[in-house]
Amino acid sequence: TVPRVQLSDGHSIPQIGLGTALDDDAIVPVIVNAIEAGFRHIDTAYRYGNQRGVGQGIRDSGIGRDELFLTTKLDGEFQGDSRAVAGLDECLRQLGTDYVDLLLIHWPLPQRNEYVSTWRTFEQLVEDGKARSIGVSNFTPAHLDRLLAEATILPVVNQIQLSPRITRHDQVAYHRAHGIVTAAWSPLGSGSGLRDDPTLAAIAATYGKTPAQIILRWDVELGIVPVPRSTNPARMVQNLDVFDFTLTADEISAISALDTGAEERVDSDTVGH
Ligand code: A2P
Repeated sequence: TVPRVQLSDGHSIPQIGLGTALDDDAIVPVIVNAIEAGFRHIDTAYRYGNQRGVGQGIRDSGIGRDELFLTTKLDGEFQGDSRAVAGLDECLRQLGTDYVDLLLIHWPLPQRNEYVSTWRTFEQLVEDGKARSIGVSNFTPAHLDRLLAEATILPVVNQIQLSPRITRHDQVAYHRAHGIVTAAWSPLGSGSGLRDDPTLAAIAATYGKTPAQIILRWDVELGIVPVPRSTNPARMVQNLDVFDFTLTADEISAISALDTGAEERVDSDTVGH
């Protein structure tokens, strides 16, 4: 079984989750296969438009709801006032469940200036039992500074794009200092060619693992929770099979040094405070 990482609110999260940015009609067997492969943490979002299929896959798998850690995220249209109440109700209806384990603000959308009021609604949703834990996604430290100053319940997770090419070292340190777990989307670098990197290939050969497994182990060593996407059952199994070896400090540094130093993706969804 996959080890769990402690969250600041007393709950815990399986250290590797399944990313599910896939169409609804394709997702049902993916979820069934992932649960069969051993995934107990599934990461979806309202924006992916696949929550019905995710819910169907979970039911088809036959697993108990309490054995599964389910994350969803709410988009801009559900920010501000108490719109997140209706947003989460809709997610729960689509998923066919009465709570999520983790609810995230999908993007800070600072131009709208609504993420703090959205957070107050998220806190209420915890009180109501509809979200066990709450967190954010794609927030910068500046956004978190503001949120932490106003929050009663602290965000347990910030899910950001992170891979050996985009290590966000300072941001991960900020999270650590504030008790926030870093989750990583596109941890395998998606289509960037990262998995063909010779440094990763050399380390992979040492352990008889694949470059993808080396990347996921690097996340684990750094206390990061990656949510790799895969539709392939063999690769799903592979992506959980990273708990029987450890990387040396030098190897961890060599992988972190793959950071291109390129400016983080400047996104209108995150610029501003
Ligand atoms: P596939 O679904 O065919 O396995 P990311 O999560 O960084 O966005 O990466 C997702 C991509 O990485 C998908 O195209 C997925 O393809 C591929 N992928 C997932 N796991 C592995 C793996 N263990 N080895 C190689 N490619 C993988």
